[in-house]
Amino acid sequence: MHFLPIASGKGGVGKSLLAANLSIALAQAGKRVIVADLDLGGSNLHLVLGIRSISRGIGAFLFQNVALEELLIQTEIPNLQFLPGDSEIPGMANIKTQHKNKLLKGLRNLKADYLIMDLGAGTTLNTIDCFLMSNRGIVVTTPTLTATLNAYFFLKNVVFRFLDTSFKKGSWAREQLNKLLANTAQVQKLYLPKFMEAVESNDPESAQHFFDAIKRFQPRLVFNMLEKPEDAERAARVRRSCREYLGLDLDHLGVIYRDELQDTALNSRLPIILYKPQSILSQAIYRIAEKILSVEEIDDTPMDWELFEENFQVANQEAEEDFEAKFQYLQELLDTGALNMADLIDTVKTQQLEINQLRKENLLLKSKVVKALQAGVKL
Ligand SMILES: Nc1ncnc2c1ncn2[C@@H]1O[C@H](COP(=O)(O)OP(=O)(O)O)[C@@H](O)[C@H]1O
Ligand SMILES: [Mg+2]
Repeated sequence: MHFLPIASGKGGVGKSLLAANLSIALAQAGKRVIVADLDLGGSNLHLVLGIRSISRGIGAFLFQNVALEELLIQTEIPNLQFLPGDSEIPGMANIKTQHKNKLLKGLRNLKADYLIMDLGAGTTLNTIDCFLMSNRGIVVTTPTLTATLNAYFFLKNVVFRFLDTSFKKGSWAREQLNKLLANTAQVQKLYLPKFMEAVESNDPESAQHFFDAIKRFQPRLVFNMLEKPEDAERAARVRRSCREYLGLDLDHLGVIYRDELQDTALNSRLPIILYKPQSILSQAIYRIAEKILSVEEIDDTPMDWELFEENFQVANQEAEEDFEAKFQYLQELLDTGALNMADLIDTVKTQQLEINQLRKENLLLKSKVVKALQAGVKL
C-alpha cells in the first residue's frame, strides 16, 4: 500500500480539499483508496467529501477496541472508502504514545492501494510520525509568507525527528542533541549543516545513520490558492531554504489556483472534482493524481535532484497555463451570460478587501521576521 500523508504546518491551506478530491481522482483511476481523517479534534473531512454525519471514528478504535476496518465507510464513489476522524479527541497532540503506535499499526494493516491521510495543522510529534509513514509525504502551502514559513518549520521539525531517531543512546551526537533540545531557543537558532559537521567529525557513526535515513526522505510540495503565475515562484524559495538549511530535497507535485467555484461546490455539499470536473481546480487535482500515479512504483528509491529541478520548472509552466485558462473560462462565463457585471463588481470588491487584509498581515509578519532575524534565527 502507498501512504500519502498530507501535512502543512499552517491550517486552512487546503489539506482537506486536496485529500478529498485527490482520493476521488485516484479512485476514479481504478485504485482502491482509503482516505483517513487524521485531523483529530478538528475533523471536517467528511463535510468536504459530502458525508453529512458520522456516528463514530478513530476514537472508537483507540479507546473502545473497535477494529479500524469496521469504521470504514463506503462512499458513493466506487473504490473509495472513508475512515472518519474524531472530534471528541482533543487534538492529535493529546494522544499518548501507546495510542499513537496503535494507530500507526492499524493504518499500516489496512488493505488498499492508497491510504490518503489528512493530517491536522501543527508540528506535534504524533503528526510528524504519521507524516513519516511515507518518505514522499505531501506538504501543502499557499504563497503567503506565514504559510510558506510554516511549511518550512514543519519540515524542520521532521528533520529533527530524523536526528532524534538516528542518534543512539550514549552516543556523542545523542548527548549534544539532548543538550540542544533542553533549550527551545537554541533549537530555533540551530544551523543544521554546522551541527552535522560537528557530529561528522566527533561521531561519524551517528552522522552516517542520520544521512542514511534522511536521504530517502523527499517530501513533495503542493502550492495551493495561487492568484497569479508569479506566486508559483515562491515555491523555489521554500525549496532553497530546505536545501540550504535542512539539507532536504523537495519535489514539486504542482500548483492549484484559488477557484471561486470551490465555494459553490461546498454549498452544494459536493467535492469540486464531482461538482465541476472541468474547473481549473479539478483539473489541477487530476494533474497531481497523474503525477502520483506515474511515480508510484519507485516509492522508496531516492530520486534524482535533477528530476526535481525539472518538476519545479513544470509547475511554473503549469501556473502560466492555468492562469490563461482561468481567464478564458471567465470570458466564457461573461459571454454566455452566466456571470453578469454585478457579479464581477462584487468579486472585484471582495478581492480588494482580501488584498488589504493580506497587506496588513504581511507588514506585521515582516516586522516579526526582521526582529527574529536580528535575534539570530535562521531561515
Ligand atoms: N484552491 C482553492 N480555491 C478556493 N478555495 C479553496 C482552495 N483551496 C482551499 N480552499 C478553501 O479554503 C478553506 C480551507 O481549506 P481546507 O482544505 O479546509 O484547509 P485545511 O484542511 O488545510 O485546514 C476551505 O473553505 C476550502 O474550501
Ligand atoms: Mg483540514
